[in-house]
Amino acid sequence: MSSLHFVLFFLFFYHFNIVNSSTAFVAPIDRDESTELYTISIFFKSPLQSTDLLLDLGGKFSWIDCTPGLYTSRSHHYIHCGTSLCNSLASLACSNCFRPSGPGCHNNSCGLFPENPVIRDSILAQALIDSLALTTTDGRSTGQLGVVPNFVLSCSDASLLRGLPEGVSGSAGLGRSNFSLPAQVSSVYASPYLFALCLPSSSSTSSGSAFFNTGGPYYFSPGIDLSSHLVYTPLILNPIGFTVITYYRHPSDEYFIGVTSININGNPVEVDNKLLTINDNGFGGTKLSTVTPYTVLETSIYNAFIERFVNESATIGLTVTDPVSPFDVCYPVSEVSSTRLGPAFPTIDFVMHSEDVFWRMFGANSMVRVAGEDEDGDLWCLGFVDGGENPRSSVVIGGHQMEDNLLQFDLVSQRLGFSSSVLVHNTDCASFNFTDDPGL
Ligand SMILES: *[C@@H]1O[C@H](CO)[C@@H](O)[C@H](O)[C@H]1NC(C)=O
Ligand SMILES: *[C@@H]1O[C@H](CO)[C@@H](O)[C@H](O)[C@H]1NC(C)=O
Ligand SMILES: *[C@@H]1O[C@H](CO)[C@@H](O)[C@H](O)[C@H]1NC(C)=O
Ligand SMILES: *[C@@H]1O[C@H](CO)[C@@H](O)[C@H](O)[C@H]1NC(C)=O
Repeated sequence: MSSLHFVLFFLFFYHFNIVNSSTAFVAPIDRDESTELYTISIFFKSPLQSTDLLLDLGGKFSWIDCTPGLYTSRSHHYIHCGTSLCNSLASLACSNCFRPSGPGCHNNSCGLFPENPVIRDSILAQALIDSLALTTTDGRSTGQLGVVPNFVLSCSDASLLRGLPEGVSGSAGLGRSNFSLPAQVSSVYASPYLFALCLPSSSSTSSGSAFFNTGGPYYFSPGIDLSSHLVYTPLILNPIGFTVITYYRHPSDEYFIGVTSININGNPVEVDNKLLTINDNGFGGTKLSTVTPYTVLETSIYNAFIERFVNESATIGLTVTDPVSPFDVCYPVSEVSSTRLGPAFPTIDFVMHSEDVFWRMFGANSMVRVAGEDEDGDLWCLGFVDGGENPRSSVVIGGHQMEDNLLQFDLVSQRLGFSSSVLVHNTDCASFNFTDDPGL
């Protein structure tokens, strides 16, 4: 953005920041090639600056690098200790954590522990308030900006950015907590606590999108409303969170769903059902994660899954070749025909609470294209990995399996709406109409 644009932008924002309640917002999501993580672009600080953050679906709250001297904003302030806001942050975040000078305090102001979910690291830092803005939408295209004036997040320092995509300055937490980004955006506009994600695939050159405060419509070119293609399954609360910092008896802020069986080509994978249920210690079950590139399966599920997949692929004449790490099942690209839904492999269904509610994965989501190690050429590898014998969650559905799928997180009805591959409807997640210059 040029500096003139910037000034115009700023003036515009000051004249038109009062938007209706029940306002819906949209923000672009991009995939970072080298880390296989996703970023979301928002506007932040005063004057507003376009800011890229890691997209962390299970994050409790957001954080940003506010190294003194580098962080400049006319609207930021810290939160005094002992205020009700600080107390509610402390009750959210700190039941038994380090308190240097009073409840939840750090450097004479309210403290938090921002976490980097990729390197699993955390620091003690000050909570911060600043202005956030998002682009409004009617579900078809973009409109003016709407401001969330007192957005609560945490500071961090540059050390917490390790392992994240280049150019990000922090993390956007979309988890269940009251201080997650969607929770704050919906409470300031008194809108339903509901958001949707459509992650772009690695091959797309345009952005995917995140919608806030709206159950639809979500129009994607050429005029497909993806909200009309959702099926629903309950969101399940895990009573025990698993974070870098241990929060005593704090439920998880991550999103879990009740997968009850996995079918490949319609034939079931043998799975010990106990593994698919969350136990009292928070182990087991199926989690959704945008910071996990490929779906991770507990070892016994993984072994049964790849055996079934290899057998079902054999019935359509496909023979495995030498795999490339981290994958165990690969096929030469030259042997597989391609379709609109990706390479032609057996379908994988994650069946939910009822037989007729299942998330179907076609080749575009099940397989990963990998450069071959010799002159045999490229491979299609089954994009699932072994999670070991006693993982926290038995199934972690990762980013590759969510790409080009619309996922709606409805915290009011406590359900997940999912579309399965939107390629079926002749569109993709990169086909939302973002106009170049929001608000101008
Ligand atoms: C303590 O907070 C003040 C602002 O309130 C800031 O200028 C200073 O750098 C902080 N010190 C540390 C060690 O974080
Ligand atoms: C995208 O939205 C803009 C602004 O509303 C509109 O002028 C344009 O025609 C739209 N493009 C498409 C392909 O729908
Ligand atoms: C979240 O906010 C709601 C409404 O303000 C409140 O009832 C609830 O106790 C809060 N939960 C936490 C964990 O702070
Ligand atoms: C896969 O095929 C092998 C060889 O035909 C057979 O022994 C095995 O039982 C099959 N496994 C499954 C899960 O169908």
